[in-house]
Formats: sequence, structure tokens, C-alpha cells
Amino acid sequence: MTEFAKGLEGVIAAESKMSFIDGQKGVLEYVGIPIGELSGKSTFEETVFLLWNFRLPKRAELDEFGRRLRACYTLPDGFEQRILSTPKTAQPMHALRSLVSALSLHDPNPNANDVDSARDKSLKILGQAPTIVAYFDRHRRGLPLVHPDPSLPFADNFLYMLNGEKPTPTMARAFDVCMILHADHGFNNSTFTARVIISTLSDVYSALTGAIGSLRGPLHGGANEGVMHMLNEIPSLDAVEPYIMGKIERKEKIMGFGHRVYKAKDPRATDLQKLARQLAEDTGNTDLYAKSQRIEEIMARELAAKGIYPNVDFYSATTYHCIGLKLDLFTPMFALSRLAGWSGHILEQLADNRLFRPKALYVGPHDAPYVPIEKR
Ligand SMILES: CC(C)(COP(=O)(O)OP(=O)(O)OC[C@H]1O[C@@H](n2cnc3c(N)ncnc32)[C@H](O)[C@@H]1OP(=O)(O)O)[C@@H](O)C(=O)NCCC(=O)NCCS
Repeated sequence: MTEFAKGLEGVIAAESKMSFIDGQKGVLEYVGIPIGELSGKSTFEETVFLLWNFRLPKRAELDEFGRRLRACYTLPDGFEQRILSTPKTAQPMHALRSLVSALSLHDPNPNANDVDSARDKSLKILGQAPTIVAYFDRHRRGLPLVHPDPSLPFADNFLYMLNGEKPTPTMARAFDVCMILHADHGFNNSTFTARVIISTLSDVYSALTGAIGSLRGPLHGGANEGVMHMLNEIPSLDAVEPYIMGKIERKEKIMGFGHRVYKAKDPRATDLQKLARQLAEDTGNTDLYAKSQRIEEIMARELAAKGIYPNVDFYSATTYHCIGLKLDLFTPMFALSRLAGWSGHILEQLADNRLFRPKALYVGPHDAPYVPIEKR
């Protein structure tokens, strides 16, 4: 009998060549390349190629990959109507999950899950998901839809569809870097969800829909929205100390801190912190950055000894706010990027599949009597 690990902590569930994490040292690599190298030098499109092919593309390959991805921005015929009939009050993560699922209804061959078909479907969904989010957001704001521009890279095109104007190069680059930093992260809960679903030889749509549902949780991708709520709740820099100490005393979790794997500062948080500081200065949000930094100092003083440091969600909140994104779009942004990682894992799983089927440690009674209903 193997050991029981609550929450599967420390359990190795499959092999992967995509990302490597050293939680003690705070290291993250995609296919061996340190995340800081990629966030400084790569683009999201190139990073997706890397994750799906386990190598960097040559110039012509990158151009071709970008061209193919941009050709996928357009939604299937009739899909726009589906978005326009989604209640404006729906939460964006619920809209994204339901609408990614609905894409399968427009696919004449949704179940094809040989690796090549799964790769084509993944590319299509990666291209279409930003259109879904931007259309839904404009629909709920009562604004006319802005159709995708296939001449624009992923990040530029999304901000263009959302805001109706092309982003400045600084904003587009900042958003692209966020996309790189969130693209993959080992066997996190949503990635595991995607792999579990595809391991039944179900379909890419089902696997990605399940993954989006997992990501929404406040212990996972939903934490970035929690961070922003917290920053909004703290009225001033002076109020940070009593606010955080109160939470610690009440044993409440502080969103954006702690990680199942990292017991040092998440390297993505280091990159995002730089980005947040710069964008906060550029956009007049220095108060937000100052509050974040104060929280980090207090948390370091109080909880670093327990291995609790900022994670990816902590500074992504300020970064997304400075880019001009509404609070309830923060987690969908995580999803747009992580679709790359989920899809790569689906492809890895399909290439060498074995059904995931763990066991539960049964702790209930045995040989219990069946009591007739009138005697219970
Ligand atoms: C990410 C997370 C779920 C990992 O959790 P985990 O590995 O299951 O660890 P636990 O929740 O069991 O926490 C272990 C201990 O650290 C404490 N802790 C963990 N994260 C904490 C946080 N953000 N704030 C305060 N205390 C925290 C727990 O209270 C617990 O303390 P205890 O041993 O005294 O009971 C957890 O750190 C968390 O809830 N963080 C906040 C949400 C978040 O930012 N999620 C995004 C992750 S990228």
C-alpha cells in the first residue's frame, strides 16, 4: 500500500518536459530556460512554441506559428450571437468557461484527440479565447464589439479588442510579459485537472473547460482578484500594518502569499514586482505599489520563517490594474495565458497516455447493517 498524501502534496503523478520548479531556491524554467530570461527576451508567441515543441523556434518557424495563431482569432459563425445572448451580469470566468466549452458545438469533429488534431484545436482555442473575453466584456459594458486584428500579435490584439484602440508599446509589452510568466507551472491544480480529463481520452474542449473551472478558485488563479480586493480595502499606507496584523491574528490567509511548492519568493513575483513598480509610476498608481510593498515587508517579518512569500498573484494584481484591466478580468487573464500550458500538457499526456485513477483511503465503517427505512 502506498503512502497517503493529503492534497497529493509531494506526489509525482507523471513526467513532463515543460516546466521545472525548485521551490526551495525559487527557480522556474520552461524547457530548461530560466523564466527571467524568457520574460526579458522572449514573446508570448515564442514561449508557446517553446512549450509545445520543447525547443525555441527558428525565425521562419516563429513567423509561421504567429501567422497560424493570428488566423485563429476569429470566432466560428454564429458564435458572436452566443456571446451577445450571455447575461451581462455573468462573471467573466463563468462566461469564459461556458463559452470555451461551447466552442466544441461548432467543431465538426470535436472528439479528435490524436496529437496533431489536439494541437490544432489547442491553437484555435488559444487564438479564440481572447476574442471571447474581449467580446464578452464589451457586450456587458454595452459597447460595440471590436473585431480581432490578425496583423497584431496576441497581447496587442487582446488589448485592442478590449479597449477599442491599439495599446502603447509599453502596455503591450507589459501584458505580453504577464502572459509569458503565467504560461505554465508544473502540475498545478488546473493543469492536473486538464491532464486528468484528457487521460480518459475525452476531448480538448472538456479538458480545457475543466481547467478553467479549477483556475477560478481563490486558492489558485482567483487569488489575484483577492489581492486587488485587499488592496482596495486598505485605505492608506498607515492602515496596512493593522490590517495585515489583524488577518494574521485571526489566522486568515493573505491572498497572493504562500505556495504549495515554493518556500522562497516565487521568481514570477520578482519579475512582476519590477513590472508593477514601473507601471505604477507610469500610470500614477504609486500608492497601490507602496501598499503592496508594505504588505510584503510585514509578511516577511511575520511569516517568512514559515516559508510564506509572495506568489505570482501578488504583484500581478497591481500590474493588471495599471494596464487598465477591470478586477474581474484578472483571473481570465491568467486563463488566457495558462491555456498555453494546459494545452502543452494535454499534448504531452496524449503522446504517452495512462488513465489517472488514484485510490481513496477508505475510513468509513464495514459490514454496516441495512436498516429498514421505518426503523432509521
Ligand atoms: C497557495 C496555498 C493554497 C498553498 O497551501 P498549502 O500548501 O495547502 O498550505 P496550507 O494552506 O496548508 O498552509 C500551511 C500553513 O501556512 C499558512 N499559510 C499559507 N498561506 C498563507 C497565507 N497566504 N497567509 C497566511 N498564512 C498562510 C497556513 O495558515 C498554514 O498555517 P498553519 O500550519 O499554522 O495551519 C496557500 O498558501 C494559500 O491559501 N495562499 C493564499 C491564496 C493564494 O495566494 N493562492 C495562489 C497560489 S499561486
